[in-house]
Amino acid sequence: MYAMILTETSAELLLVVKNLRVIFSTKDGNITAVNDLSFSIREGETLGIVGESGSGKSQTAFALMGLLAKNASISGFAFLQGRQILNLSEKKLNKLRAQEIAMIFQNPITALNPYMQVGQQLMEVLIFHKGMRKKKAFEESVQMLDAVKISEPRKRMMMFPHELSGGMGQRVMIAMALLCRPKLLIADEPTTALDVTVQAQIMTLFNDLKRDFNTSIIIITHDLGVVAGICDKILIIYAGRMMEYGNVRDLFYSPSHPYSIGLLNAIPRLNCENKYLLTIPGDPPNMLCLPQGCPFNTRCSYVTELCMKMPSLKKFGEDRVRACFKEVEELS
Ligand SMILES: Nc1ncnc2c1ncn2[C@@H]1O[C@H](COP(=O)(O)OP(=O)(O)OP(=O)(O)O)[C@@H](O)[C@H]1O
Ligand SMILES: [Mg+2]
Repeated sequence: MYAMILTETSAELLLVVKNLRVIFSTKDGNITAVNDLSFSIREGETLGIVGESGSGKSQTAFALMGLLAKNASISGFAFLQGRQILNLSEKKLNKLRAQEIAMIFQNPITALNPYMQVGQQLMEVLIFHKGMRKKKAFEESVQMLDAVKISEPRKRMMMFPHELSGGMGQRVMIAMALLCRPKLLIADEPTTALDVTVQAQIMTLFNDLKRDFNTSIIIITHDLGVVAGICDKILIIYAGRMMEYGNVRDLFYSPSHPYSIGLLNAIPRLNCENKYLLTIPGDPPNMLCLPQGCPFNTRCSYVTELCMKMPSLKKFGEDRVRACFKEVEELS
């Protein structure tokens, strides 16, 4: 079975996700938070997963990291260099995390221990996962702080988390995630809490790291504008489902889904005559009672009767996939 799935894909792909589904059982009913997602990443490539709040971005990442809540059931496949990584034992997961896939969480600064010096926390990762001696772990940590462009890294090693600015805290988290040289870095809303200038600096940093370490990166965000400059591919999701998937240029120059158009129009632009941002009307759906058919049909300005059924995913153009009944040429 695995062999069959993998033959469709090229060996140079680092991660191949096929038909990933995450269902939470709750007392009010089932929530399909991730609904049949398929995507892949090559070495050194960056994928953006973009969607509004509640669309299933974090749960997709948690599924890959083995971090889903207890009421979740998971199906589908995720192959990291050909190895299935869903439903691994805790022991294998511990090895996978940090060493092969590292994640930067939403609200990263809360992931640091407030009572421990930053350096101590970085060194612990290397001592625990790599069995490094203290002195070597110290030097490696200093080097990594330097790599994420933290000035005076030796001095910062002695600082406590509350002494760091937001941007610096984020850089420390990125350094920590990269310490064991993971093949894949997942960054969940890595810049939401930061101001625009610092956001741009962190994105530049991701680009530098991709070049220097050849790390593949998944960036999760609700803001297409933030990831435009750094992603190779974009996966747009709505209510857990893929709406559109393809390379970043195609998405920006010829979006193929009304939801993508809505997200693009919501990006603030300089030199734009219209000073008001065009937001998508309505709210993200209640995952416990989704509309029948395409989940976006209640907010879509192109809706027709056809949309009362779920459009199947169709390949088109160069490695693009979309789920919409409307022809691309009919969208403007
Ligand atoms: N343990 C759980 N039990 C039931 N539902 C859950 C559970 N965890 C998450 N969900 C639901 O799964 C859906 C997807 O959540 P997810 O955290 O992936 O959203 P997100 O896209 O990351 O949103 P945000 O941008 O707000 O972080 C949401 O509707 C959420 O309420
Ligand atoms: Mg999230």
